[in-house]
Amino acid sequence: MKKLIAGLMALMMVLGLAAACAEGLTTLEAGKLIYSTSPDFPPFEYRDDNDNIVGIEPELMALIAEKIGLTAEPLPMDFDGALLAARADLGAKADLVVSGVTVTEERKAIYDFTDPYTTITQAIVSKNGAVTKDQLNDVIIGVQSGTTGQLYAEDNFKNVTKYETYSLAFQALQNGQVDCVLLDDAVGNAYVKKIPGLGSQPTDCEIEEYAFGVNKGNTALLDAINAALQELKDDGTVEAIILKYNE
Ligand code: ARG
Repeated sequence: MKKLIAGLMALMMVLGLAAACAEGLTTLEAGKLIYSTSPDFPPFEYRDDNDNIVGIEPELMALIAEKIGLTAEPLPMDFDGALLAARADLGAKADLVVSGVTVTEERKAIYDFTDPYTTITQAIVSKNGAVTKDQLNDVIIGVQSGTTGQLYAEDNFKNVTKYETYSLAFQALQNGQVDCVLLDDAVGNAYVKKIPGLGSQPTDCEIEEYAFGVNKGNTALLDAINAALQELKDDGTVEAIILKYNE
């Protein structure tokens, strides 16, 4: 029996490798799909009580990697760092950035984006949800550095303070150093659920699409991830995972 299991495992490893080879995939470390991420972003990526990185995107990456014969491995850092780490032009440390990344024209020049898998828009989180969109010029706005929220805030309003992580931005909100945090609405809602006394208000910002930013030029990897992602969309897995984390 033991021999049979060992034999089966050997066969599965060979098949796994064959699958990876068949796709002709090149990644930074053989057999691995390393993704940079900023795990301060519930429900998309955050640390659970045991310090494991969990959420919608780690779960999706594990399934996608499995489908293309690789093992997904998160490389955690702040958001600015996560964006840098997946830049092929700067000596990439990660094969892709998976961090609730909004597809923008500027970023399209830097990464090969996969197909989008969900959408958000910007929201305002403040104590009791008191700050509305018409007050944004009269308050101090907290943002995460490098985000679309930062760009929007700096383009339109006077007082913007940047933080490396949303954890720090929300501490600043609780301490009264900023009056609100401007961020992706799904993530704002998660912080509202987590921290008592906070509320959310809408903005009239545009809809933003999330996708994964693959090293520019790694077309085989991009295509393989897109094919796997499409399967997970078609069989309802993507929707089920998003629902699970929004319960
Ligand atoms: N969607 C926004 C952007 O692309 C914010 C992403 C922040 N992600 C994070 N994991 N903290 O700029």
